Amino acid sequence: MKITVSTFAKRKAEKERISMLTCYDYTTAKIVNSSNVDAVLVGDSLGNVMLGYEDTLSVTMEDMITFGHAVARGCKDKLVVIDMPFMSYQVSVEQAVTNAGRLLKEGRGNAVKLEGGKKVAEHIRAITNAGIPVMAHIGMTPQSVNAFGGNKVQGKSELAAKMLIEDALAVQEAGAFSVVLECVPAKLAKIVTEKLSIPTIGIGAGPDCDGQILVYQDMLGMYKDFSPKFVKHFGNVGDQILEAFNKYDSEVKTAAFPSEEHCFKIDEEVLEKLY
Ligand code: KIV
Repeated sequence: MKITVSTFAKRKAEKERISMLTCYDYTTAKIVNSSNVDAVLVGDSLGNVMLGYEDTLSVTMEDMITFGHAVARGCKDKLVVIDMPFMSYQVSVEQAVTNAGRLLKEGRGNAVKLEGGKKVAEHIRAITNAGIPVMAHIGMTPQSVNAFGGNKVQGKSELAAKMLIEDALAVQEAGAFSVVLECVPAKLAKIVTEKLSIPTIGIGAGPDCDGQILVYQDMLGMYKDFSPKFVKHFGNVGDQILEAFNKYDSEVKTAAFPSEEHCFKIDEEVLEKLY
């Protein structure tokens, strides 16, 4: 049965955890779809891990639609959330609704995610009123990397912690069906999680969130440009890929590959006529 936003609400009510991974392509989407993972985010982190940008700011609506639709085609049973890229919703409420609509119409996602708390509450309300489920994202929000002066843990002072709680309540009140808490002290994330009736999805926010999300290349040990403290490697796929690439190179150069089993045949009769 397909996981939906109702599944998220049920999990919160029944105190059952939610697992999420990012996903950006059809092949990986098919693997995630066969797994027990509940939902996928086509994150604008694709700017880093798929396109090699140093941050997420250059990611476009067209990127999100292309990668989002690829994932939606492979992840039929999971909730597919597509990120709204930088400057696709900040300009106006109208712009936010139009672009959220494109991520469902053209990207075929089931929900959208956008960054920010109180400041984007009206955007969340309008998108939700258009029938589009919204996942909010507060704490360390990578699209504001320049405003934060780097990727830093958020909510550490009394004032910052109180503002984070207010942001969480504001996005819930505006209609978000869940909220990502990124790089937030674990004990603050616990308080936020207890105060909210919608699920919190943590990344670098400790064990007491209602769910967790990781970038899949990070958790598979494939992306090594930088590795945040909150990442755990559940595999060493990067090393396995490297080993396979080197094995291929060596077999090509020693003519061990391709062998007979990988070759197509032609009738001897035909062959004779070619000489
Ligand atoms: O873009 C992304 O991958 C995200 C997650 C880190 C939550 O926003």
